[in-house]
Amino acid sequence: MTVLTAALELRGVNAGYGKVAVLHDVDLVVPERGIVALLGPNGAGKSTMLRVASGRTEPTSGAVYLRGTDVTGRSPERLARTGLCSVPEGRAVFPNLSVVDNLRMWTYRPGVKRKDVEEQAYARFPRLKERRRQLAGKLSGGEQQMLAMSRALTANPDVLLLDEISMGLAPVVTAELFALVRQIADDGTPVLLVEQFARTALEVADTVAVMSQGRIRVTGSPDEVRDSVLETYLHAHPAPPV
Ligand SMILES: Nc1ncnc2c1ncn2[C@@H]1O[C@H](COP(=O)(O)OP(=O)(O)OP(=O)(O)O)[C@@H](O)[C@H]1O
Ligand SMILES: [Mg+2]
Repeated sequence: MTVLTAALELRGVNAGYGKVAVLHDVDLVVPERGIVALLGPNGAGKSTMLRVASGRTEPTSGAVYLRGTDVTGRSPERLARTGLCSVPEGRAVFPNLSVVDNLRMWTYRPGVKRKDVEEQAYARFPRLKERRRQLAGKLSGGEQQMLAMSRALTANPDVLLLDEISMGLAPVVTAELFALVRQIADDGTPVLLVEQFARTALEVADTVAVMSQGRIRVTGSPDEVRDSVLETYLHAHPAPPV
């Protein structure tokens, strides 16, 4: 019998900022395969979850496991080297550097060669190759997200965390990005993503977790959670886009 180890697991996590408690006893499992989407209204604690998972916020109690290893309290840099990479909210590129220089700055894991990094990035996102001499700040929003994802993928991570990559993008660009995320997951990198649009998340994810007020309310397949997603969103003030 094979015992399945989760790629990433948060167990009984409490976390916040200063005296303000944001996450209350949160459990979340990202399996070794597929896409987990985290949904919920503004201020629910989604980004805080990703911050805890990536070591940018230390939990006040509870633990974070990466492939079964307790990594609670490790620095984001160390986590990135051990296999957890994230694209935080907002576009994580250096606007005044070219695409190629952005890629060259991001060789996290020992033994990763610059040339391989570039080749991998261009193979996955051919549009970046055409624009390799262009300043990253002059790329379209979707292209900047592709560059940010390339950076994260160069480390060949055990799990990829994405926070609202569709922010400010046209629906057609969002659809294109999520097709690429699907491909990344199908190629074997599990993904945990936060998404503002419930409909998009229900389409792309294998598992959906719905949060409100710092707690996970429901977890399941898109079909299982569809009704409670709408319910959670209906009771949110102000009502977020669905
Ligand atoms: N750096 C911070 N200092 C203090 N409070 C914070 C900080 N970051 C977030 N918070 C608070 O923590 C709560 C959860 O915020 P978080 O960013 O995790 O929500 P979110 O679900 O990602 O929301 P959104 O959909 O708007 O991005 C909010 O009440 C927010 O005001
Ligand atoms: Mg957020």
